[in-house]
Amino acid sequence: MDSVLITGCSRGIGLALARQLASRGWRVLAGARHPAAAHALQAAAREAAPGSIEILSLDVRSDESVKTAVEEAAMKVRGLDVLVNNAGIFPEEGNEPLESLPLECFEEAFAVNVVGVARVTRMFLPLLTRAAHPRVINVSSLAGSVSGKEDSRHYCYSASKAALNMLTRTMAAELRPRGVTVVAVTPGWVKTEIGGPDAPLTVEESARSLAATIERITHHDAGQFLDRDGQKGVAAW
Ligand SMILES: NC(=O)c1ccc[n+]([C@@H]2O[C@H](COP(=O)([O-])OP(=O)(O)OC[C@H]3O[C@@H](n4cnc5c(N)ncnc54)[C@H](OP(=O)(O)O)[C@@H]3O)[C@@H](O)[C@H]2O)c1
Repeated sequence: MDSVLITGCSRGIGLALARQLASRGWRVLAGARHPAAAHALQAAAREAAPGSIEILSLDVRSDESVKTAVEEAAMKVRGLDVLVNNAGIFPEEGNEPLESLPLECFEEAFAVNVVGVARVTRMFLPLLTRAAHPRVINVSSLAGSVSGKEDSRHYCYSASKAALNMLTRTMAAELRPRGVTVVAVTPGWVKTEIGGPDAPLTVEESARSLAATIERITHHDAGQFLDRDGQKGVAAW
């Protein structure tokens, strides 16, 4: 049974992906910042096959929290097949002009969407490199597409996802010789707290596509920016 650790599983895409991969036979380690408050995730773990979803306390902003999560994961799996860096935040309202944008929003966005991914990935590397074909999936966004940027909205979120894309390329180049495949994937525009109610996709639809893509990723995909169906060249850098 392949194992996957997903960050940010209390709700949204992370929760749906945990459910989806568990139903496809994966052993899911589901990270949540506040497990006791993650009632929907607790329900998913109860409803899934016994042992297929296990909840780990994991705050991507905290070295201590990630270190403890690595220790707990190492007691459950010998090697980690897949890490999904899904946890993310959208800290601004979205339409603020540069002059009124609180600059702390940049720090918040980068702390979770970029530094959090670097922290979690490097701390889980020893466990990842014990798996046969380890893969790291960074959940990015079309908002991070530099060439596709035409509007003046979403400064902090967009800049953080563009940085995540560069982090993905850099990690992919460093880790490829060590057998670790790193990709960035867009989940589509999805009805969640980040995506809002007007998004066309449900979390289940996005998670189904993402799960199938995760199962198909090979070392040939290293460093690519894939759409949720695993296609290259649709999501532009
Ligand atoms: N929805 C879309 O249309 C869309 C489009 C493109 C990309 N994405 C990306 O998809 C990913 C999931 O977003 P979503 O749409 O499912 O949003 P969401 O419903 O707001 O979920 C975000 C998740 O991230 C977690 N999180 C936030 N800060 C964290 C931290 N410091 N440590 C650990 N977990 C943390 C949240 O946990 P708490 O409950 O503890 O806050 C929550 O579980 C994000 O990376 C987002 O940028 C979404």
